Amino acid sequence: MPALSDATRGRLLFGGDYNPEQWPEETWLDDLHLMKEARVNSVTLGVFSWSKLEPRPGAREFGWLDRLMDLLHAHGIGVVLATPTASPPPWMGARYPDTLPRDENGQVVWWGSRQQFCASSPVYREYAATLAEDLAARYAGHPALTVWHINNEYCTYCWCDETARHFRRWLRAKYGTPDALNEAWGTAFWSQRYDAWDEIIPPRRAQYMRNPAQVLDFKRFTSDALMECYLAERDIVAAHTPHIPVTTNFMPFWSGLDAWTWAEQEDVVSIDIYPDPKDPLAGQYNAMLGDMTRSQARGPWVLMEQAAGPVNWRGVNHPKPRGLNRLLSLQSVAHGADAICYFQWRQSRQGAEKFHSGMVSHAGEHGRTFQEVKRIGADLALLGEVVTGTQVHADAVLLHDWNSWWAGRQDGRPSSRVEYEQLVRAWHQALWESGITAAFAHPEQDLTPYKLVLIPHLYLLTDAAIANLLAFARGGGTVVCGFLTGAADADDRIRPGGMDVRLRELFGIGMVHEWWPLEEDETADCGDFRGTLWSEELEAAAGAETVAAYQGGELDGLPAVLRNGRAWYLSTVPEPAALRHLLADVADRAGVRPVLDGLPEGVEAVRRGDLLFVLNHGCDRVTVNVPGHHLDLLTGVLTGGTLTLGRYGVAALREDMP
Ligand code: GAL
Repeated sequence: MPALSDATRGRLLFGGDYNPEQWPEETWLDDLHLMKEARVNSVTLGVFSWSKLEPRPGAREFGWLDRLMDLLHAHGIGVVLATPTASPPPWMGARYPDTLPRDENGQVVWWGSRQQFCASSPVYREYAATLAEDLAARYAGHPALTVWHINNEYCTYCWCDETARHFRRWLRAKYGTPDALNEAWGTAFWSQRYDAWDEIIPPRRAQYMRNPAQVLDFKRFTSDALMECYLAERDIVAAHTPHIPVTTNFMPFWSGLDAWTWAEQEDVVSIDIYPDPKDPLAGQYNAMLGDMTRSQARGPWVLMEQAAGPVNWRGVNHPKPRGLNRLLSLQSVAHGADAICYFQWRQSRQGAEKFHSGMVSHAGEHGRTFQEVKRIGADLALLGEVVTGTQVHADAVLLHDWNSWWAGRQDGRPSSRVEYEQLVRAWHQALWESGITAAFAHPEQDLTPYKLVLIPHLYLLTDAAIANLLAFARGGGTVVCGFLTGAADADDRIRPGGMDVRLRELFGIGMVHEWWPLEEDETADCGDFRGTLWSEELEAAAGAETVAAYQGGELDGLPAVLRNGRAWYLSTVPEPAALRHLLADVADRAGVRPVLDGLPEGVEAVRRGDLLFVLNHGCDRVTVNVPGHHLDLLTGVLTGGTLTLGRYGVAALREDMP
């Protein structure tokens, strides 16, 4: 199986989406000159080139791409070649209206933007496959080709009739009989029993709340349907180039695709990450996505897109202050990325993204953005030694599962204020601020490499996941678990007692009487800290220790934090500082240490292989104690005991043997 190392060949990849079809050919040479100046060694071509490559059905216009591939190769720049299937040309929708997706209300989603395809459409699939085949045949032997990039951010949902037929096939394969489906979906409720397969439809707009198990299966189905499209194209290109790795780029922490299952089908896992420069915790967000992607990749990964400056899809779009682009780029390397790329090379002058930054902004080569890009290119060239399969080690792992996210976010819940991604982020933040490196795992994954398992909130847990967790705990591992975990089984059926009995035993919970979600302006007094978002009327079992109890109100004296040996249960969400103290304390007891002790606030330390990255996420100069003697690969300076970092400063330290 080809690997990322086949593309990196001992260097970090640096570059971005290159959309030269938006520019006259005279610009290309200028681009290449600037790319060389910035040490760009990889560009992604063709992501949105379908209408240029196939201007009318069956036509082929490859000449411009031939010239580009040759030019890039002549300049020593590798190509991540995309199948352009994310954005079908207008002719497809005009000729084949059934390729267009329909929303939940049955409304057509028209062309004129991008991604207007129904994943179940045989016509779309056929055209996509034929073009992928022709591209692969044409460029299989081209020396510039380094990686295949299939489609782009698979994310289309569709509720059309073709999708309905496809959904039924998927359900049939899963359940076998309508009766089994009725049982799994609980269709005895509200007279929803299905007598035949063709009565089943995707969860379209309905009078009132829809069947949650149906909605959950539709999410699973859509992730699988999109994956079928990916697999079809992957297999086509792989047949031509078995030595070239294949990827598709994930959206950051996006609910639509089960990235655990997708990652298994990729030679290389890649993601697009767009931290908000205005967010004081942009660095934590970037770290979290890096940790998650590294865990999915089980090794080095590709940062396929980030922004050199502002994006254009937030309400207010802020540029990156001086130095932040560099900091976040090097941070991604520290968290395991072997490729640092952008959307996009040159800022577009037309189209919907003309206010989205590029590596070369409207200000041009003398603008600050490009000057910083050049510096990053120079920095990355100094860090080639990380690209030797070096790993980031983590003793602590956060469990995360799309199924639980999908099931838990539906209507009709105890509280619509519960946002899964915010909870995962809050727990990761607590570790990040404590200097502890985290990994992520699917709850059924092997947990034995870790000392500490953290579950921010997994409303749905399968029996296999519960067995996995119990085995980890029996083996001496420490588990910390957030509220409303293990409440539902794989079909979103509430488990007897409101929480799986094996988990209640693990955490020392006698009974969960009621859930007491909190309002936005409400907190729960837990003695030393305040709980937010949620509380529970929970009875401790004999032998369990109430570490923190609710004070006053209906839950007076009941456990907010419960401990049963090495198993901890949090029935509320402590405010950030309290969550940090609690998790740091549990980690310490579990023998999980920060990478460096005594880090100043806002300074992060991550070890990747032999390199110790120290990153200052703040604007003030800081002095950091780093025991031993080190060489900073970025500056060539030797350090002995302490290190000083300026605003957004980064050091990549290798132990210096005297
Ligand atoms: C990504 C997408 C790119 C570009 C970028 C803008 O979602 O893959 O094509 O649109 O966002 O931030």
